[in-house]
Parts: sequence; C-alpha cells; structure tokens
Amino acid sequence: MSGPERSPVKQFTMLAGPQPEDPFEVYARVGSVQPFWTDSPSDVDGYWVVTRYADVRKVLRNPDGAFSSEEAFIPKISMPNPMLPTESDPPDTRKYRSILLSEMTPDKVDPLEPRMREVCAEIIDSFRDRGHCDVVTDFAREYPIRIFVEFFGLPPERREEFRNHAHTFLHSPPQRPTTWTAIRTIVAEELASKRRSPKRDLLSAIANGEIDGELIDMETATNIAATVFLGGLDTLPSNIAWSLRYLTTHPKLRSQLVEDPSLTPHAVEEFLRFFSVANPVRRAVRDVEVGSTLIRGGDRLFLIMGCADRDEAEFEDAGCVRFDRAVNRHIAFGAGGHRCLGSHLARHELVVALNGWHAKIPEYRMPKDATLSFNGGVLAIASLPLEWDVTNA
Ligand code: HEM
Repeated sequence: MSGPERSPVKQFTMLAGPQPEDPFEVYARVGSVQPFWTDSPSDVDGYWVVTRYADVRKVLRNPDGAFSSEEAFIPKISMPNPMLPTESDPPDTRKYRSILLSEMTPDKVDPLEPRMREVCAEIIDSFRDRGHCDVVTDFAREYPIRIFVEFFGLPPERREEFRNHAHTFLHSPPQRPTTWTAIRTIVAEELASKRRSPKRDLLSAIANGEIDGELIDMETATNIAATVFLGGLDTLPSNIAWSLRYLTTHPKLRSQLVEDPSLTPHAVEEFLRFFSVANPVRRAVRDVEVGSTLIRGGDRLFLIMGCADRDEAEFEDAGCVRFDRAVNRHIAFGAGGHRCLGSHLARHELVVALNGWHAKIPEYRMPKDATLSFNGGVLAIASLPLEWDVTNA
C-alpha cells in the first residue's frame, strides 16, 4: 500500500494476556510522546501508538470524521457480527446509543445505591473475619457483577459463566470470535423472553427499543446487549483492585478516605485518571495528521489512556495521585461519539466500593511474600492478596 512514510518507528509490544509486570509501569516508560509506528514481531500487525492526551482526545472526538471504529481491532480479528455501538460510525452510532442513553442516566442509576451498599457489605462480611482475602477474586470481581446482572436483567445463578466469558473476551484476543458468539447466544435468549414479557431492566429496554421509529430487530438488539455485557463486567473490577493496591502503599491517603468518606468521589476520579484501564482503537479512513505525525489511510491506531491520562502537558503533577486536584479532565471513559455509556453506573459503584471497604476494613496491607500478576487488554491485576488484623477490623 502506498502513502506517507510510517515514521517514527519504535519498539513497542501491546500488552495482551497474562503479564509479568505492572502494565502501567510499562506504559509509563513509553511516556507521552508523539505518535509512533510499531511492528514488533510479537504483535501480529503494525499499528500506530498514540499516547499524548491532546492526540488521543483529538482522535476520539474525531471532528473531521478521519477515524473509524469499524474494522479497528488490534490485532485484526474478524468478528462474526459487530459489537454495537462500539464498531460503528456516525450516523448509525447515535441510533444505537439512543437505545441505551436514557436507561443509563443518573436518574436510573442513583436509585441503585442502597442495593450497591447492601451487596458490598454482604460480600465484605463474608471474608472480613478471616483477616485476609484475594481482593480480585473475593471482592473486586464479585461486587460489580452482582449489581450488573440485576441492572441488566440476567439470571443471577449464571454469574460465574458470564464473568468467565467477559474475562476471556477481554484478555484473550484470539478467542474473541468464539466467546462473542457464546455471549450473543446468552443475551439473544434473554432478549427474546424480555420482548415477550418486559421487566424493569436494561435487557427489556433494549429488546423493546426503537430505531428510526421501528421496533429494533433482534440481530441489532443482540449485538448491542452483548456489547454492554462486555463493557460492564471487567473494567470496574480492574479499577477497584488498582485503587486498593495503591492505597496499601500510600497510608496517608488511605487514612484520609477512612476519616472523611466525602473525599471518596474525588479519590475515584483521580484513580480513574491514574489507572485508565481501557485502551480504545481506531482506523484512519484517509491520510491524516495526529500531532506532528502523518498517519496513512487504512492504518490502525492504539490509544493508550494510561499514558494520555498521565500526560504532564495536561495534568500538573501527573505522576501523583492527588485527591485535591482542582481540574481533572481525564478521559478514562473516552471522549466524543463513543464515550462510555456506563460511566454513571461505574462512578457510583466505585464510590460505594471504596467507602464500603473502608467502613469495614480501614487498615490493610499486602502480605510480604505477595506476588502480583497482571493482565493486558483491559489492564487488570489478576490477583491481589491483602490481609488485616481481625481484632482491629
Ligand atoms: C471503570 C469503569 C469503566 C471504564 C474505565 C470504561 C471505559 C470505556 C471507554 C474508554 C469507552 C470508549 C471506547 C471507545 O471509544 O472505543 C467505553 C465505552 C463503553 N462502555 Fe465503558 N467503561 C467502564 C465501565 C462501563 C460499564 C459499567 C458499562 C455498562 C454497564 C460500560 C459500557 C460501555 C459501553 C456500552 C460502551 C460503548 C459506547 C459506544 O461505543 O458508543 N462501561 N467505556
């Protein structure tokens, strides 16, 4: 293919699957630099890596329509049906999002708070007297999925199966097409039953939604519902685990949250910025400049939020977690036409998780011999052992 020269070229490996090293530290070494091309042998295809806040925001906001979300996956994976609205472009994106938008507003999410607190307390009570747990498996993965299945309208007894599918999809790219089909099969069955007898849940709203004044077709409804399923299941556990891990090594910040829970919403915003776990991808539809780099039409872009949201050009003291940050325009939830639809739910759940944890376990630490393991894709800690003194708890 002809077009502008792909330059500069740098060595880089996209993090996917199990990782031995903290992925945010790996990305911190890349830093916030001008876009560069990479075609490391360990990654399947070459692609652009975009790290600066201004560049990532520009690509996401896409003012001139130079970037597409269709056929943008890295590595290139051919999916049997599109993830919607994720793999769509305007004007279709707005149509698909309209089915979800009114169902995920603060008005719909805020009333869930008492249930969030109840579930959170129940889960922590189940292990608190033990004096130790694995935060990832015992808490961070368990709490959001219990809220999500109720909000979404899935049978709670199939929680484990849902969680495993979402995890495989997000962390094992080669298995995506088969896992996607398995997820679609589950949601298609549920959507069919919710179309016949709607309940007060998101699946019912999707099953009975309208596009251009017509009842949504089941194929589109299934692609939308399966995408929400994926968006809602792995991002939150990752953020909860990163936040609690950070607080084990920053006891002053932890004490501030224990003493004054009204600080927690600020802490959550800062943890969203500092641990931006989701990295969007895009495809250039024509030759286009990003920063000082000319991108060739047809090339794919990997947008590293963990670099953008730690860019000194946008955030003063970007490398420090500061609960008193006056301006925090982080893009952990994306920006522009595909901005995260679950952001209200996510923020609410994160605040309840940290406050719920600190109310019951105010002091905690990582065991000295703890070994952490990590996942790429949605950047996650795979396992985080914590312990505490039961008498003080
Ligand atoms: C800490 C938690 C979360 C983070 C960091 C996060 C991050 C993101 C990001 C960066 C995008 C934009 C992707 C792109 O531009 O291609 C996105 C999209 C999306 N998210 Fe989230 N998300 C979170 C939680 C959730 C939850 C809880 C749900 C659902 C219950 C959800 C549902 C979605 C959906 C449906 C989209 C697709 C929007 C579109 O393409 O128009 N997310 N999310």
